[in-house]
Parts: sequence; C-alpha cells; structure tokens
Amino acid sequence: MDIFDCIRTRRSIRSYSTKPVEFDKILAICEAGHNAPSAGNLQNWRFIILTDRQTIASLPQHCLNQEFVAAPVVIVIASQNEDLEKHYGIRGSRLYAIQNCSAAIQNMLLAAHALGLGACWVGAFDEEKIGEICKIPSQARPQAILTLGYPQEDPPTKILRKLDDVVRFNTFDSRIKDLNHELRFYSDEIEKKTKEVGTIVQKGKKNIHDYMHAFKKRKGI
Ligand SMILES: Cc1cc2nc3c(=O)[nH]c(=O)nc-3n(C[C@H](O)[C@H](O)[C@H](O)COP(=O)(O)O)c2cc1C
Repeated sequence: MDIFDCIRTRRSIRSYSTKPVEFDKILAICEAGHNAPSAGNLQNWRFIILTDRQTIASLPQHCLNQEFVAAPVVIVIASQNEDLEKHYGIRGSRLYAIQNCSAAIQNMLLAAHALGLGACWVGAFDEEKIGEICKIPSQARPQAILTLGYPQEDPPTKILRKLDDVVRFNTFDSRIKDLNHELRFYSDEIEKKTKEVGTIVQKGKKNIHDYMHAFKKRKGI
C-alpha cells in the first residue's frame, strides 16, 4: 500500500476482534509516532502503553462511556511540556506541544492501518483521571488515547467535503471556481483539447479522403 492509499483508506475503527496484537507491531507503531516532526526537534511525546487489563477495563467511565476504549491495546499519548516551555514560552507549551503530539498520533494511525490494524484517536476523556492512572506529572499533559486492535468493522463511507471547499488561494475567503485552472494545472484542459483536436484531425482526414474519392471518380481514375 503506498502512502496515498494508506492516507485515503485509513478510518477510525471502534470495534476489535479478540485476536491479540503482536508486541513488535505495537512498538513499530510507537516508532512511527516517534519519527514525527516536532518544533525544535524536542520530541515531547511520551507513549504510555497500558498493559493491565483491569485498568483498561476501567477506562470507558473516564471517556464519556465510550465502551470501545477498553480495546485490546491502549496507548496514552502524553506531552512533556517542560523543554517546549523553556524554548518557546507559552507558545511552546500551549501550541507546539499539541501540534507535535498530533503529528505523532497521525503517524501512529497510519502505521496501524499499514500493519492491518484498526485504531481510533480518542480525545474525549477526563484529563485528571487519565493523568492519575498514568501518573502523569504536572509539567506534562495527556493529549490523546489511542485504541488499537484487529478490526471487526468496516465503517460506512465517509462524507468528505469537496477539495474546492477547503483549498483557498492567497486569502482565507477566496473560493476556487476552477481548481485546475487556479493551480496552473492544465492537464485536464490539455487532455480535453487534445481530444478535440484529435476529432478535428479525424474529421479532416475523412474530408480529404471523401474529396480524393470524389476527385478520382470525376477523373475516372
Ligand atoms: C482530536 C480528535 C479527537 C477525537 N476524539 C474521539 C473520541 O473521543 N471518540 C471517538 O470515537 N472518535 C474520536 N475521534 C475520531 C473522529 O471521530 C474521526 O477521526 C472522524 O469522525 C473522521 O473519521 P475517520 O477517522 O474514520 O476518517 C477524534 C479525532 C480527533 C482528531
């Protein structure tokens, strides 16, 4: 599966089979997260793999009763904010901390999908409780919970806004009438024109053929 297929076909999976997930796959997913870009290369993410089944079973009550969170594998992604704050002040701890972890989480979702696993990014949870369970210190913050397992569902097709709705040029409100034209990406137009020219040439050839045929007939050739 190439990267574009992986991005396009990845979905949130919230139902898992009982098949155990191989530990090397869990580590490969953490490694994918760890390869994400981060402001100043500070790598503030921490991947806390929960191994205690009883703790995992207790998670849904701290996640708005989302039962699927008691998944075969659960990884809490926490941000260590100290270095980011030191280097970048409030922008580091409030913005880059989240952005860095988000980049890591998306890598993890894609890696899971590429390995045939299903995963879901869970953001709705009681921060204090998750912090307590994972003993997250005060200068750190739980950013997300990642649930993992072999998929036992095939989610319905996702409704995606049209690309024209979300791609803008130069200013926030500029709407694009013709994406290909705006991108100076004329391949569609060229293909259309080539087809038109092809049709004209074919017509021309036919005309010449008809003319020659009539001419020869007149001359008795
Ligand atoms: C920041 C964030 C928080 C999310 N929190 C939850 C959550 O608490 N529960 C859940 O079921 N899905 C959650 N999701 C997953 C989204 O619902 C899902 O990505 C979205 O519906 C698009 O579907 P897709 O992932 O299949 O493309 C979260 C996603 C993000 C990015």
